[in-house]
Amino acid sequence: MQQKKFLLEEKEMPTSWYNILPDLPEPLPPVLHPGTGQPITPDDLAPLFPMELIMQEFHPERYIEIPEELQEIYRIWRPSPLYRAYQLEKALDTPAKIFYKYEDVSPAGSHKPNTAIAQAYYNKKAGVKRLTTETGAGQWGSALSMACMFFKMELKVYMVKVSYFQKPYRRLMMETWGATCVPSPSPDTKAGRDMLAQDPDSPGSLGLAISEAVEDAVGRDDTHYSLGSVLNHVLLHQTIIGQEAKKQFEMAGCYPDIVVGCVGGGSNFGGLAIPFVQDKINGSHKNTRIIAVEPESCPTLTKGPYAYDFGDVAMMTPLMKMFTLGHTFMPPPVHAGGLRYHGMAPLVSHLVKLGLVEPVAVPQMATFEAGITFARSEGFISAPETNHAIRAAMDEALKCRESGESKTILIGHSGHGHFDMAAYDAYLSGKLQDYAYPADKVKEALTHLPKV
Ligand SMILES: Cc1ncc(COP(=O)(O)O)c(C=O)c1O
Repeated sequence: MQQKKFLLEEKEMPTSWYNILPDLPEPLPPVLHPGTGQPITPDDLAPLFPMELIMQEFHPERYIEIPEELQEIYRIWRPSPLYRAYQLEKALDTPAKIFYKYEDVSPAGSHKPNTAIAQAYYNKKAGVKRLTTETGAGQWGSALSMACMFFKMELKVYMVKVSYFQKPYRRLMMETWGATCVPSPSPDTKAGRDMLAQDPDSPGSLGLAISEAVEDAVGRDDTHYSLGSVLNHVLLHQTIIGQEAKKQFEMAGCYPDIVVGCVGGGSNFGGLAIPFVQDKINGSHKNTRIIAVEPESCPTLTKGPYAYDFGDVAMMTPLMKMFTLGHTFMPPPVHAGGLRYHGMAPLVSHLVKLGLVEPVAVPQMATFEAGITFARSEGFISAPETNHAIRAAMDEALKCRESGESKTILIGHSGHGHFDMAAYDAYLSGKLQDYAYPADKVKEALTHLPKV
């Protein structure tokens, strides 16, 4: 009998998050205060985040215990399954062994709740009554809506305007869980009003929606801001994914040669990959290849410089050293809304810089072709973001077909595509297109990088 899925018992769920900071061969460059240019202090971040989350940004210890109250909520959907993709292997006629870690089982349909519930929990504990956030395609906004429902907190979500109108069902999920969702740019903040005055038809961007959510939070005493990716504490909470996967590979009696995940801000990739990077650094599995996949039209890691930049358009966030296309860059409207971000997690950027992670960029059409192959073999319909990881993993499996090697490949299956059927419709009806790399726009945006 071929075992298709590797399931951990609830009692086998990891009870700590893995913090890679003390294991890094070189420390992360400091995050800088946008006003003074000096390294930020925990107090600088206090208007936005509760102290326990801020301390996780700088934490010196390797493991951080997951509070019992959070473990209880995780157990609603965790441990998530690890699948062996036998049908995909057959469809590709490859000797590679393909596995995928399936985060779609959360109530919101992706990996995002792993950090959403942790962020809501620490804010609630600090007495915060209301959160604000941004969302692109709506995955993050819906995850945080669910988290705020669990902890009885108010939430206002600034949703990138183009997605707000393209994806009404994600908005309705947020409203079902009790959150308020407005299209960004909105008239509710100065950042939004400025953009509307400049361009009333602006489709919005994640960078702008972040500016709105931060401005809203800074302006109210009862409110904090919550970010769904990029920051160290977000990637930390996601490491439960990779830690579970390692236990599941023990059950399967093997270890991946290649780990592949898609990158927008870097959180699902970081969460899956960082526990495997740990083994690369400590020498127990030095040769594992760890691949971060991004869209060719928003190629932060493969084409951007490694430089200090803002996380948002209105220059309200601290300066982070990261691969960036420039904080004013508006990525083309690819369907993988969660990958349309100008920057990248400083941790993922650092791992790329150290040569521990390899970046690749793939075009939109090829990702949907991969998503269709996956749906027609494994059955599951994947999010357009996830299709980027599937594409790169399939390319590796096809190389194995040529070479005859039987490599073990792990895909981070970050979410389902049930609310992305319009994108599949565009592909299936021949209307989907590739977007050329917008070299001129990036060149222009890079002229606005802050001088550090
Ligand atoms: C399903 C899915 N995968 C991946 C991403 C990319 O984000 P991150 O790089 O933070 O994992 C998103 C973001 O919205 C998403 O919804």
